[in-house]
Amino acid sequence: MATDATAAGTISIAGRTVPRMGFGAMRLPGSKDPAAVLRRSVELGVRVIDTAWFYGGGVVNQYIAEALRPYPADLVLATKTGASTTHVGQGIKPDYSAEQLRAGIDRDRSVLGLDTVPLTHLRWMGDGDEVDGVTFDQAFETMLEIQAEGRIEHIGLSNVTFDQLRRAHARGPVASVSNLFGYGAQDDAPTLDFCTENGIPYLAFGPHGYGVTDTPPLEPGQTAAQARLKWLLARSPVTVVIAGTGSVEHLEENIAAAG
Ligand SMILES: NC(=O)c1ccc[n+]([C@@H]2O[C@H](COP(=O)([O-])OP(=O)(O)OC[C@H]3O[C@@H](n4cnc5c(N)ncnc54)[C@H](OP(=O)(O)O)[C@@H]3O)[C@@H](O)[C@H]2O)c1
Repeated sequence: MATDATAAGTISIAGRTVPRMGFGAMRLPGSKDPAAVLRRSVELGVRVIDTAWFYGGGVVNQYIAEALRPYPADLVLATKTGASTTHVGQGIKPDYSAEQLRAGIDRDRSVLGLDTVPLTHLRWMGDGDEVDGVTFDQAFETMLEIQAEGRIEHIGLSNVTFDQLRRAHARGPVASVSNLFGYGAQDDAPTLDFCTENGIPYLAFGPHGYGVTDTPPLEPGQTAAQARLKWLLARSPVTVVIAGTGSVEHLEENIAAAG
């Protein structure tokens, strides 16, 4: 298999046409050399990097800025907001107040060194539709206001239910969805199918299953990890792989799945 992200085909996200083989940066704090992993991903054609200001207690965005600036013009840095910025390094505490939604976005802009972040997901963490008196719909309205202020370019949704997506999609443009989905975890299929019907990019996190070892039948020469990622790409034209790793070897193996 060729080690080239562009072999996965392309998709339009946040106004850029990019390969559907992306990269998830959450595992970088466990890496021996985060900069090498990041630089190799971009060298191999990756143009979607999923991150969050709270990953690694705040260090992951620093790794990205140090390794990749000046960024390629078509790089989609996909971030998240919806956590308390005063709880860095003490676990992630959901907070959907307008003040904290803005604070997370401003932290991204400052650490990543960007006037505007291309894509910011409203990351929902509640079991229901309301967290500490703020409803999902109110939080989405605030995201639209923050976008109108020019702080973010495009709004995505993460960890959302099918119903939340449908409501937000009816209210304003939803640029992407990032939910848990993979061969071993297909409960979110209705959301993915809605995204497929509406042309909404779907950044699937946890494609290696979080301990679920279910794997599609292997093609000759394919590893289990590659089979899962190739299955994900074949599942829908809107899926985007954001598999996470802290290892250059695993990164290359994952990107080669695109072939
Ligand atoms: N929106 C959200 O709420 C949310 C939640 C969770 C994650 N995410 C994003 O989604 C990305 C992916 O999720 P994830 O990292 O949790 O899960 P994942 O990609 O399914 O799995 C990552 C794990 O698999 C291992 N791995 C990766 N490639 C491998 C390979 N080729 N062979 C063997 N093991 C391999 C990694 O270890 P090594 O480091 O040793 O390779 C790591 O332990 C994250 O990086 C993050 O950006 C988003």
